[in-house]
Amino acid sequence: MKKILILFAHPAYQKSRVNKVLIKGLQDIEGVTFRDLYQVYPEMDIEVKDEQKLVEEHDIIVFHHPFYWYSSPAILKEWQDLVLTHGWAYGSQGNSLKDKLFLQVMTTGAGQETYCQQGHNKMTIRQLLAPFEQTANLCQMRYLPPMIIPGTYAITKEEVMKHKENYKNLLLGLRDEKINLDDLVNKQYFNEYFK
Ligand SMILES: Cc1cc2nc3c(=O)[nH]c(=O)nc-3n(C[C@H](O)[C@H](O)[C@H](O)COP(=O)(O)O)c2cc1C
Repeated sequence: MKKILILFAHPAYQKSRVNKVLIKGLQDIEGVTFRDLYQVYPEMDIEVKDEQKLVEEHDIIVFHHPFYWYSSPAILKEWQDLVLTHGWAYGSQGNSLKDKLFLQVMTTGAGQETYCQQGHNKMTIRQLLAPFEQTANLCQMRYLPPMIIPGTYAITKEEVMKHKENYKNLLLGLRDEKINLDDLVNKQYFNEYFK
């Protein structure tokens, strides 16, 4: 059984509608460690050694967050800046993340149709997430297609529950190695896997 570390970041969790539902119960799934970074570090004073130890103990690293200014909330950037050190995460001796899987789970306010050249947001979500993908590559991790929960401003409760079910199945599939990673190679988003 693979071990999954979910690093969750939402700076305005009290106001959350969608992520609040998505994360409920995640900590009860066997093999999953759920870590709310803003709760652990309200002052953003990240303990690098603690984070590195946790990462070393897991096989699959998940960044779960709302899309904020076409990226992640600030604490996940801080986490990358401090935790992914030379000689640990990258560089000739930095192999701690080698062969781990990296997954992003992200809610977006705008609908998915706006994320294209002709659309309001001009670029695809995958294009905008390129720094995460290349960071994973540099650290010798395998970047999986991100799972997107789009259009949160207009989303229905039923749609949120469907995404929640897909998210859980995705975690269980990865944990139990029931998902053939080769099936994902041509997928832009994990969502396509569930269709
Ligand atoms: C500061 C800020 C920046 C945001 N930036 C984006 C963005 O770049 N693209 C987008 O689609 N939605 C953006 N949103 C909308 C959030 O992604 C959306 O409200 C969130 O995913 C909803 O999840 P929640 O109900 O758990 O808060 C932004 C929201 C805030 C407050």
